Amino acid sequence: MRPRLGSVQLAASAAWTLSGNDNGTMITAAPRLYPHMWSWDTAFISIGLAHLNADRAVRELETLLAAQWRTGMLPHIVFSEGGGYFPGPQRWGAAELNPDAPSAPRTSGICQPPVHAVALRRIVDIGRGSAAVERLLREGWPRLYRWHEWLVRHRDPHGTGLLAIVHGWESGMDNSPRWDVPYAAVTPGEDLPPYVRVDRGLVAAGEAERPSDPEYDRYLWLIEEMRKVRYDADQVVRTSTFLVGDVFVTALFALASEVLAELGEEGGQPSWQVRQLRGWARRSRAAVAAAYDPDTGLARDRDLRTGEWLTSRTIAGFAPLLCGGLSDVDDERLLASLSGPDWAGHPDLFAAIPPSVSPNDPGFRPREYWRGPAWPVLAWLFGWAFERRGWTEHASRLRTECLRLVADGTFAEYYHPLTGEPLGSRQQSWTATVVLDWLHTV
Ligand code: SER
Repeated sequence: MRPRLGSVQLAASAAWTLSGNDNGTMITAAPRLYPHMWSWDTAFISIGLAHLNADRAVRELETLLAAQWRTGMLPHIVFSEGGGYFPGPQRWGAAELNPDAPSAPRTSGICQPPVHAVALRRIVDIGRGSAAVERLLREGWPRLYRWHEWLVRHRDPHGTGLLAIVHGWESGMDNSPRWDVPYAAVTPGEDLPPYVRVDRGLVAAGEAERPSDPEYDRYLWLIEEMRKVRYDADQVVRTSTFLVGDVFVTALFALASEVLAELGEEGGQPSWQVRQLRGWARRSRAAVAAAYDPDTGLARDRDLRTGEWLTSRTIAGFAPLLCGGLSDVDDERLLASLSGPDWAGHPDLFAAIPPSVSPNDPGFRPREYWRGPAWPVLAWLFGWAFERRGWTEHASRLRTECLRLVADGTFAEYYHPLTGEPLGSRQQSWTATVVLDWLHTV
């Protein structure tokens, strides 16, 4: 029988998980598999922390922001002193190759989804009145502005508002079927330096729950390509053999830019910057709407190397629900589909939250990372956006159902959507954090 903790016990274990992952300088993403700071994980982690200790939440986000590149990019990993992860700072070589990368702490050379303004919004709402939160609003905001500006300047190669990623890791959904077509065109060269994966040994059923070796070869090869141009942002976009307009990142950017604009107004930031953010949000919202395919009822990514729309059916197809931009009729249709039998309403699901790939899709792999499992953090994101858009019933259903999924207290990285079995890493900080946030907003 699967254990089921009560709310108080669940909240206590979530807080305990976060404190267990605190290495003194940062809350790591997970104790063994991810012993460093990941950019979008940290955004979520700081939200959970805000419920426990606003100062600590602020410090966490400040630690990430302090590793911002001089160009404005927020790196996807900020490395702690300890090793234990591959590819580590030596393999990336970011500081050696690019003078705009910080040399301490060491970082990776790519980025992750821009959800940080959402975290700032939550922290400000939760910790209002705290001096540290006021400081973050004052001093963190300009850094987030520069981060958004970097994305517009370097990741909108066609000027349409559809933001490009140069590595599947930048999407946060590493091995999602979304990337199968573009990755098929990435050919690792003979000169790919040898490497040893450490991730598989750290996950109970590593073979079945982590990306495959051929996938890893491509992940590592893209790093080699970037090293060759010394992580120069514009050259990377020109030379990378993987360049995809990511509809989910674009939707998050549109949402976060709008949120950052609001926070800028509240914090008395320059009005021209607030206007700029609203303009970016508008353009990216329009790009997300343009990616919506009325035939399939889902939004698509676009391979920017070939111009081809990518039609895999994944949770990312619901991106327009995050940021708006569709007609009311299309919103209704998308919402109905999200809660319908192909997704959260599938009769065999353990809990009614949308898995990463529909169980009705021939490519559905319920244990395999982004190819089928349910990710609580995505349910949180949709729930938060739905609340904001006034779809409170949908938001509260996601919350209730997902809390049922995670009630075993393992805080897994992802879950088998049909059985509720915890998969991947355990004690994953961001799973603990979304649980804390939900339990505090009854
Ligand atoms: N998510 C990746 C990993 O699994 C890195 O960002 O290692």
